[in-house]
Amino acid sequence: MNHSHNHLRKEANKNKMAQNYIASIPFDHRLYRQDIKGSIAHTKMLEKQGIITKNDAAAIITGLSSIQKEMEQGKFQFRIEREDIHMNIEARLFEEIGDVAGKLHTARSRNDQIALDLRLFVKEEIPKTIDELKILQSSLIEVAEANRDVVMPGYTHLQQAQPVLLAHHLLAYFEMFQRDKERFCDCLKRTKILPLGSGALAGVPYPINREFVARELGFSEVSTNSLDAVSDRDFIIEYESCATITMMHLSRLAEEIILWSSSEFSFIEIDEPYTTGSSIMPQKKNPDVAELARGKTGRVYGHLTAILTTMKALPLAYNRDMQEDKEGLFDTVDTLHSTLAIFAKMLKAIKVSVKHIRGAIKKDYILATDLADYLVKEGLPFREAHSVISKLSRYTINKNKNFHELSLNEYHDFSPCFKEDVYDITLNSSIAARNVIGGTSLQQVETSLTRAREILNRESRSEG
Ligand code: ARG
Repeated sequence: MNHSHNHLRKEANKNKMAQNYIASIPFDHRLYRQDIKGSIAHTKMLEKQGIITKNDAAAIITGLSSIQKEMEQGKFQFRIEREDIHMNIEARLFEEIGDVAGKLHTARSRNDQIALDLRLFVKEEIPKTIDELKILQSSLIEVAEANRDVVMPGYTHLQQAQPVLLAHHLLAYFEMFQRDKERFCDCLKRTKILPLGSGALAGVPYPINREFVARELGFSEVSTNSLDAVSDRDFIIEYESCATITMMHLSRLAEEIILWSSSEFSFIEIDEPYTTGSSIMPQKKNPDVAELARGKTGRVYGHLTAILTTMKALPLAYNRDMQEDKEGLFDTVDTLHSTLAIFAKMLKAIKVSVKHIRGAIKKDYILATDLADYLVKEGLPFREAHSVISKLSRYTINKNKNFHELSLNEYHDFSPCFKEDVYDITLNSSIAARNVIGGTSLQQVETSLTRAREILNRESRSEG
């Protein structure tokens, strides 16, 4: 072993227990593509700036490419004594091309290197996340369109409140996922900043060309403070924050799917593959996918709390604590991807039971607000109308009747304002009446469906 390997020998002498504790290779091997991509761009820059020769650069790049191949073929031997992805690759490069490998790390530190790898990783994950959100949104549109005129009870406090269109209810989730996409897009802006060139913490004493590296790697800017660049993990915190919000939305949707598929509701039936049977209760079909999505939301929240806590008392600049950023990030990315993907499929395959949805509205008490609004149109102040209808409702419920079964005389006991046309108030008239922007009338919902489709089309055009 020659002198270039001294730093590796030192690693090998550490005691095993400490070595295992310190090593990040068991999980950061996942960053190998980013690490090699960054190293190649860095090497090209070193050559361009005359810091290393053309031949040296060519040897390094050839070596790195063959290491990448080894990794992709699963032939690369990751070694725990080589601690992390950076040193595993560098040590292997020495074996491949000899001492010239030692020139790769010129004008670089592992501190700006890991910041780069992570930014490259998050920068690639954001567009994937956004694409999956779009696919989920188009599943929602599909189900909404197929059931565009289905009237369901709308709930507040999980009590039947006013009728709404099922499509309107589903499109509420379209809005949530639209905001989620915007948040991820925004996070991308601050992720696309190149940290490489910050060195260990103070910058590097070589005539490097950071803009060149930024262009090579698709970053839109270079960082402007070296201390910040090596110790900033905001982009991870932001990605995880966006992810927690998306998971929260998915969890709410999961909760409704669970509730709606219960025998008490029976609004929907989940397709077989997304459920399991019970081993002892044959009548059961459990909504496991939805339950797991709801459950996994907890660990995604946990990762956000963990990284915030890890970062909160760190003095500038890099501290080893920050190595703890990775597992939570990877798990967040994986959990989010798998949940978004399966939800898009599960939703599309959902069977809607119009019969049970309509059947859930047992009596027409859900039209109470419409009766109050009727009185307002007859000239009563809303508060007064509300109090009249409260009394009328109590009376009707006590009689175990529907509103439409009351006689006009009974109505008149509560207010003289009622006329024959009070019987025109129905579920459909209630829906149709809410013809304001954002309301549940069929016309508004049709407009929302068109708009939703347009948004997705526009987004896919601007990508292409
Ligand atoms: N494995 C380290 C991490 O993930 C890389 C940076 C280590 N830098 C250092 N000076 N020890 O954070």
